[in-house]
Amino acid sequence: MNNIQPIGIFDSGIGGTSIWREIVSVLPYENTIYLADSKNAPYGEKSPDSIIEYSIKNTEYLLQQGCKLIIVACNTATTNAIEILRNKYEVPFIGIEPAIKPAALKTLTQSIGILATKGTLSSSLFSKTSDEFTTDINVIEKEGKGIVALIENGMIQSEEMTELLCKYLNPMLQENIDHLVLGCTHYPYLIPQIKKIVGNNITIIDSGLAVAKQTDAILEKYKLKNDTFQNKSHQFITNVNPNVLKNILSDVLIKHSVAEIAF
Ligand code: DGL
Repeated sequence: MNNIQPIGIFDSGIGGTSIWREIVSVLPYENTIYLADSKNAPYGEKSPDSIIEYSIKNTEYLLQQGCKLIIVACNTATTNAIEILRNKYEVPFIGIEPAIKPAALKTLTQSIGILATKGTLSSSLFSKTSDEFTTDINVIEKEGKGIVALIENGMIQSEEMTELLCKYLNPMLQENIDHLVLGCTHYPYLIPQIKKIVGNNITIIDSGLAVAKQTDAILEKYKLKNDTFQNKSHQFITNVNPNVLKNILSDVLIKHSVAEIAF
C-alpha cells in the first residue's frame, strides 16, 4: 500500500460530503475520491441486505481506484454493513454512528433527541450503543423519513423541508431535550434551519469531526499518511445527474470537478 493513494469515501448520496469537508480540513495532504450512490438513495428505507449489497459495490469500486482506506460516510451503511466490510476486505474502514455517547454524558435535562434514518435506528449496532450509554436517560428517536430524498432533490431550502423538520423536532422539544444528535451525514446541511426551530439552547451534535480525527489516528497507526506536499487531487463521482452534487459543493468546486459514471 502506497501513502499517496487516495482515501475513498462513500455515501448513499451527497450527504457524506459533510464528512469530506471535515477530512480535508483535518488531513489537508490527503488525496480523496468521493462516491455518491445517489441512484440508490435513500438507503435508510432499504432492507439490511440491500444496504450491505450497495456498500460492497461501493467499496469494490473505490478499491479498484486504488484507495488505501475507506470511509463509510453514511450512518445507515455503517450500522448495517461495516462489520461485513471489515471481514471481507483488508483495507482499514472508518465508519460513522450517531454520537449518542457524548450527548448522554453531557445532558443536564436527562433528555436527548436523535434524528436518524429508519435503517440506522433499527440496526442492532445502534441498539447496542444506545443501551450501553442511555440507561436512565429519556431518548426521543425520530426517523427522518423524507429528509434525505428532499436533500438529494436539491430541496434543502423548501417549505416541505421546514414542515418535516417541525414534525420531527417539535415532539423532542416537548420532551425538554437539551442535546440533539444528527445521526445522518446529510443532516449537517440543515443545521441553520434546525436552529431556527430548536433555538440556541439546544446543543446539536454530529460526528463529522470525530470521524476525521479517527481517520487521522488510523492512517498514523498503519503508517499510511501522505507525506508528500504536492497538489492534492479530489475526485467526486456520482451515478445520477451530477448537478445536485455540484450544487452542494459549489463553494469548493473551483478546483475540483464532478464526474458522472454508470454505476
Ligand atoms: N447519509 C446517510 C446516513 O448517514 C443517508 C442514508 C439514506 O440514504 O437514507 O445515514
